[in-house]
Amino acid sequence: MTAALADQARLDLPAHWPAALSPRALAAVDAPTPFLAVDLTTVADRYAAFTAAIPGVSTFYAMKCNSAEDVLGTLAALGSSFEVASIGELRMLQEIGVDASEVLYSNPIKPPAAIAEARRAGLWRFGFDSEGELHKLAQYAPGAAVYIRLRVDDSTSLFPLSRKFGAEAHEARALMLLARELGLRPYGVTFHVGSQCSTTSAWRQAVAAAGRLLAALHEDGVHLEMLDLGGGFPARYVERVPSLAQIADTLNAALDELLPYRPALLAAEPGRHLVAESAVMVASVLGREVRAGENWLYLDVGAYNGMMETQQTVQQWRFPLWTSRTDHALVPHLPFTVTGPSCDSSDTMFYGVNLPSTIEVGDRLYIGSAGAYTLSYASHFNGFPPPEPVVVGGPHAHVPAARQVTP
Ligand SMILES: Cc1ncc(COP(=O)(O)O)c(C=O)c1O
Repeated sequence: MTAALADQARLDLPAHWPAALSPRALAAVDAPTPFLAVDLTTVADRYAAFTAAIPGVSTFYAMKCNSAEDVLGTLAALGSSFEVASIGELRMLQEIGVDASEVLYSNPIKPPAAIAEARRAGLWRFGFDSEGELHKLAQYAPGAAVYIRLRVDDSTSLFPLSRKFGAEAHEARALMLLARELGLRPYGVTFHVGSQCSTTSAWRQAVAAAGRLLAALHEDGVHLEMLDLGGGFPARYVERVPSLAQIADTLNAALDELLPYRPALLAAEPGRHLVAESAVMVASVLGREVRAGENWLYLDVGAYNGMMETQQTVQQWRFPLWTSRTDHALVPHLPFTVTGPSCDSSDTMFYGVNLPSTIEVGDRLYIGSAGAYTLSYASHFNGFPPPEPVVVGGPHAHVPAARQVTP
């Protein structure tokens, strides 16, 4: 971070930090740390902005990102559909009354029993990217609709996915024809540009690849009914990312220019973009020490019980940070290494982050934009419990507080 940016971060909360989660509002929440303070109004606002920006595209929220019941309920009430990675996720949706026939099962490799149970529940659309999975689908979900996951360039994302999944363009056409031979319904095409994607051109290239597949299959007499734009829509942390408007401009133009025809269903599976900014991780300082001249802070949350993405991306990105100290913006700041509560050193989250020189045991650290891939990753490693979600803002707020503070 440049000196100017560092100074700014010390003095101001980022503009996208929700007012309902301001340090003043969080100070009034009387819950044991660590907890994830959630503002459901932000979830609803992000959903509304997303659907307005890309008209005609149906949203299937990728619930792996944050499956807290209040988040799922908020999105379901607004009309969102869902994308699941497992039968466990589908069961969670069924418990809150979501109809399985509205759900996409996009994980390209699925357990046979999960395919059969999903089909019995009424789910009828399954993603795949290989011949082996097609045979499995034909056996356990005969006649189901299938959509192929294309491998696309995800090199400008922070979390690439295409080494693990995705059929090459030349394989995809043959696989869709095989699906037809096996009695399945060749239904659609999908891709994932990688999570927290930082360039709009990634979507244009991916839509172009999907368009080429639509054209090739058209020659074979196969007319696809769905184009699914996947996830990857970025959220705001500290670094700049393309705005939703910029991505939507690129996507809307690509959909107009690069497809031989427009499939009946245009879908997207945003995860992080809808929920990351809706929550703040609230942790307490357990210890402050100097080790070999380095300032260390020990918190009751670490990489294993909530902040796994900090370990996956060591030194590559920053979460916005604030503290409960009333002198936060008034005192000099020092660089700290911020680690978790376990006896393992790899639960360390941040290196060289500037925090108030006065911070001490018992103070709280607020980790902003923490609504995505935090609760859903958290383990009980070393016996430390995952943070609980606490709804602080929105129509269903139930703040455990002696007094409620308006931000
Ligand atoms: C199939 C699928 N769809 C959507 C998503 C959501 O991605 P993001 O959170 O980047 O929007 C993921 C994330 O891994 C995924 O695997």
